[in-house]
Amino acid sequence: MNREKPRSVVVVGAQWGDEGKGKVIDLLTEFADVIVRFQGGNNAGHTLVVGGEKFVFHLIPSGILHETKRCVIGNGVVIDPKVLIDEIDELRKRGYFSKDSQLLISEEAHLIMPYHKKIDVARESIPGPDRIGTTGRGIGPAYEDKVGRFGIRVVDLLDEEVFERKLENNLVQKNFLLTKFFHDNPCSKDEVIEEYGRFRKRIEPFVANTSVFLSDTIDKGQKIIFEGAQGCFLDVDHGTYPYVTSSNTVAGNACAGAGIGPTCIDYVLGVSKAYTTRVGEGPFPTELQDDMGERIRKRGGEYGATTGRPRRCGWFDGVLVKSAMRLNGGSGLVITKLDVLDEVEQIKICTGYRHDGKVLTAAPASVDVLSECEPIYEEVDGWLESTRNARSFSELPEKAQAYVKKLEDFTSTKVVAISVGSDRKETIMIENPFG
Ligand code: GDP
Ligand code: IMO
Ligand code: MG
Repeated sequence: MNREKPRSVVVVGAQWGDEGKGKVIDLLTEFADVIVRFQGGNNAGHTLVVGGEKFVFHLIPSGILHETKRCVIGNGVVIDPKVLIDEIDELRKRGYFSKDSQLLISEEAHLIMPYHKKIDVARESIPGPDRIGTTGRGIGPAYEDKVGRFGIRVVDLLDEEVFERKLENNLVQKNFLLTKFFHDNPCSKDEVIEEYGRFRKRIEPFVANTSVFLSDTIDKGQKIIFEGAQGCFLDVDHGTYPYVTSSNTVAGNACAGAGIGPTCIDYVLGVSKAYTTRVGEGPFPTELQDDMGERIRKRGGEYGATTGRPRRCGWFDGVLVKSAMRLNGGSGLVITKLDVLDEVEQIKICTGYRHDGKVLTAAPASVDVLSECEPIYEEVDGWLESTRNARSFSELPEKAQAYVKKLEDFTSTKVVAISVGSDRKETIMIENPFG
């Protein structure tokens, strides 16, 4: 923690995504002025439940329900303009987001184009071990173009001539790939120009130099939440590569992806479920492929907020969450979905992996080795009563308190909040990161 009363808090997933970041951000928004997405795109699905009403956000920061706060889509995000516009329209239909000034979009953010989605889907339709189980939203191909230096950015969309030129250059290669390699239909230049022309008009009012805006926000002493998407082990460098997403999901990327410096970050808040889930392919040492896995999936409603796919479920993996705290420089941890374990008689916590006669305390870089790892478990008694009405730590059953303490000790990170239900109010706040 860099400041007695932190002003900039980065919230990141400490597992494979879907940890409940949306709920945590919604809760903290009350104490902040600005909420910023800095990576990923509409592969994310962040759920908030307010007074029984459910919202799922894919691109717009989870702070948007608070009328007086500003939300920023930073330069590190890849934007599918159609999804963004649909999300804006849906919010307005439901009586939220009444003022354009609530949202700023970086002129440097890259656009997801129709060919990105087609390439993503076409690649994933090839059976075999190379399938990643992506969300099919074109995220990987859009980031490839960004790094390849032929991506199309928001600033390009605003200039009709530049947009048309860049699109034309891209289509030469993309349509070759689509038709000759994937035997798919090409993208029509005229159709894209017409469709993105409509998007231009809708998006223009929100476009800004968001780095300058955030710098001014910091200078005024205002408070910022950086809203991570995905989770630590979907990070393109530190995750279970290649079964990862195409951006850096760790807290360090809040700086590059929002256009601020590392000295501006005061606090990093990791979010982890009381157990583990994963969507898509890739190794998962503590996965439960039995009745218990099914019980957790059912009780936790573990189906993807973006694709609806059933999430794979397993025990809490301490090796991963402890590593996540190292990789993110975690200042505090939120444990979510504790209530999902309310009826489990015996609960397991993975404290290490066994591989080839050796005990590993950090995940190996090779996914082949990770797939062969056998989890070492510590078993604890379940509490077998409801936690959903607890609003302070002492109101939790003693065995639930002991479980949370174990996670805290093992990860060497203070648990600052516990979530015991999906609603905003179903939360135990122990220590507010904003002080
Ligand atoms: P995110 O991507 O990290 O924002 O998480 P998702 O929204 O994809 O998935 C989390 C799911 O768990 C959502 O359906 C939330 O409404 C729900 N949820 C969050 N916290 C809790 C909790 O403490 N208990 C229960 N039962 N559900 C929760
Ligand atoms: P939030 O922000 C869970 C997973 C996909 C796939 C891999 C690559 O809601 O936590 P991609 O479409 O990004 O190329 O897919 O990453 N994935 C997520 N899993 N939560 C997410 O976001 C995810 N975003 C991507 O399932 O395994
Ligand atoms: Mg999600």
